[in-house]
Amino acid sequence: MVKDIIEKISHSQPDRAEIVELLSSTGDDLKLLFEEAQKVRLKYIGNKVYLRGLIEYSNRCLKDCFYCGVRRGNSHVHRYTVEDKYVIEAAQYAFDNNFASLVLQSGERSNPAFTSKISYLLEEIKKLSGGKLGVTLSMGEQSEEVYNEWFNAGAHRFLLRIEASNRSLYSKMHPNDELHSFDRRIDAIKLLRKCGYQVGTGVMVGLPFQTLDDLAKDLLFMQELDIDMCGMGPYIEHEETPLYEHRALLMPLQDRFELSLKMVAILRLLMKDVNIAATTAMQTIDSRGREKAISVGANVVMPNLTPLQYREDYFLYNNKPGVADDADSGLEVMRQNIEAAGSVIGFGEWGDSKHFKKRKGIK
Ligand code: 5AD
Repeated sequence: MVKDIIEKISHSQPDRAEIVELLSSTGDDLKLLFEEAQKVRLKYIGNKVYLRGLIEYSNRCLKDCFYCGVRRGNSHVHRYTVEDKYVIEAAQYAFDNNFASLVLQSGERSNPAFTSKISYLLEEIKKLSGGKLGVTLSMGEQSEEVYNEWFNAGAHRFLLRIEASNRSLYSKMHPNDELHSFDRRIDAIKLLRKCGYQVGTGVMVGLPFQTLDDLAKDLLFMQELDIDMCGMGPYIEHEETPLYEHRALLMPLQDRFELSLKMVAILRLLMKDVNIAATTAMQTIDSRGREKAISVGANVVMPNLTPLQYREDYFLYNNKPGVADDADSGLEVMRQNIEAAGSVIGFGEWGDSKHFKKRKGIK
């Protein structure tokens, strides 16, 4: 029974079948799952929600992932890279508004002009904030040298989603070649940890061919890797991608949303002190999606600070929200919603993963 499994998680490790049962819960069981997850969040990390101002730095990408709107093979995308001065401007905005942290996200590239540009931007961001603005990178698989270079330039967290931890599902979502190797991706996640980053990963929820057993495996995978942070959200189809042809297999968007909430809640029960993001994809399906994720265990939000003139080109999936929001109005609405849900924004705080601090022996 769901109640017994939730009770068990507080003191011992559940197995995959038990997690599948939690993922299948409905009605009162589901309510209990959500409530317990929120209790665990409040007990282990408190009611603060930390901000990461998101800059979608570039949609140029070497990869051809079957689900992603900005995949290399999509020739309809207008490709951009945010000019340096706009990156600096967005960073200044984040600093002035007490966000304390930024995420720089981009399509994957590894040529030296790109990697050294990122180092340069990291140094500039550190300079303008007197070292105070924390920076998370989300820039794909790179060599150990590059990960080290960026770490030394000031990045301290890195997000690299595994997307699907079941090798066979992963291979249905990506071309079968070296550039999209499952093993290389796992190695990259481990490498990031070795380089000293707080490491985040995550998956998409509701992919075609994905089963509840796959999702249970995803959660156990994150636990096994002992990650510090997680970002996961519903898969949302995009017409100009190969995966679109399998849309008949998809569950309704609302169900993908609810399943994503369950994933957040169960991860919170399994990994009590990690940072979990309430992701943009959740807000795409439900305008209160981020707040709902926060009420079932998430504790990080990533307001979009990408300059408006670039936003519509970072089109990973259909109906991506906030294309027209300016930062100020978006932030104020979010603040009100978060407070209405009983949480507070941790303005001015890095909000590092408590899990990371604990494994590093930092108080
Ligand atoms: N639906 C939902 N999420 C997507 N991403 C890419 N394409 C989609 C999609 N169609 C996510 C991936 C990637 C992150 C930047 O965006 O998980 O890691």
